[in-house]
Amino acid sequence: MYSRPRRLRSNAIMREMVAETRFSVQSLMYPMFVTHGKGINHPIGAMPGISHFSPDTLVKEVEHLMSLGINKILLFGVGEDKDPVGSAAYDFTNAVANGVRSLKAAFGNDLLIATDVCMCAYTDHGHCGILHGHEVANDETLTSLAKMALMHAQAGADIVAPSDMMDGRVAAIRDTLDAENMQQVAIMSYSVKFASGYYGPFREAADSAPSFGDRKTYQMDVRNSREAIKEALLDVEEGADILMVKPALAYMDLIRTVKDQTLLPLACYNVSGEYSMVKAAAEKGWIDEQRIVMENMASFTRAGADIIITYHAKDMLSKGWV
Ligand code: PBG
Ligand code: ZN
Repeated sequence: MYSRPRRLRSNAIMREMVAETRFSVQSLMYPMFVTHGKGINHPIGAMPGISHFSPDTLVKEVEHLMSLGINKILLFGVGEDKDPVGSAAYDFTNAVANGVRSLKAAFGNDLLIATDVCMCAYTDHGHCGILHGHEVANDETLTSLAKMALMHAQAGADIVAPSDMMDGRVAAIRDTLDAENMQQVAIMSYSVKFASGYYGPFREAADSAPSFGDRKTYQMDVRNSREAIKEALLDVEEGADILMVKPALAYMDLIRTVKDQTLLPLACYNVSGEYSMVKAAAEKGWIDEQRIVMENMASFTRAGADIIITYHAKDMLSKGWV
């Protein structure tokens, strides 16, 4: 036998030397939820370890995260008054705006803030855009998304991250940001976002479940991969700075495909359902949480993700897993 792959696995130093990819803490982005009020740290039942924060407790929590080595967050606003068109989404006094302003005042450029841009936490029907009858109206929604993104940018967001899956939203947001002198604010597009059952726990967290129907007329069909390339290339053309594949675990093939077919940095979103399944099985003692989480991180990295958006980030650092 001339070829014995086991030779290179013979001890830990050897394995470390020939490891083909290396997961880095620098790739982690941590999703967080901000609401109105003071002193709030309200745990989300379906997502053990994750809470809603008010701007003041958000600053405290981020200070702790930064001491652990996490300096990138993705912020979601929750608990707003809802109406049919989601007008609270672009209200300059909403929770996201207050959260971003408080964080920027406290940490400046030591913290990178991305904000989720979508209407579903702000509309009373829970859909990601404005309705005409029971249809989500694409082009009318673009105006609201652009207003929302501009407001986030003006509050101090470094990155705006549209997650709605309307056609043309990256271009609409880019045009608006540029017209308002926000050329430096980056767009991380949820380019390849599937109509997935894995968002279940998040919809409890954000109170954003659609009141009728589902999101299949705007989010992608889970059976498609060529369409993933189409979506990614459209976002490149429209001026996206970072692309994303979401969810991550069940869509590892598409992380690789999009990485190979494009030249932009690529994020993957290890979503709420993927997180909560690991937490639940670990609580039952059925899996070794550290081992599973780190295996997932290695796999996202191997698949080609440059940025890993994950609720596990805090555990990884506070428990010394990395
Ligand atoms: C809003 C949005 C969702 C997620 C991120 N932004 C939910 C959805 O599309 O229904 C999911 C995040 C997660 O599950 O962790 N459009
Ligand atoms: Zn949405």
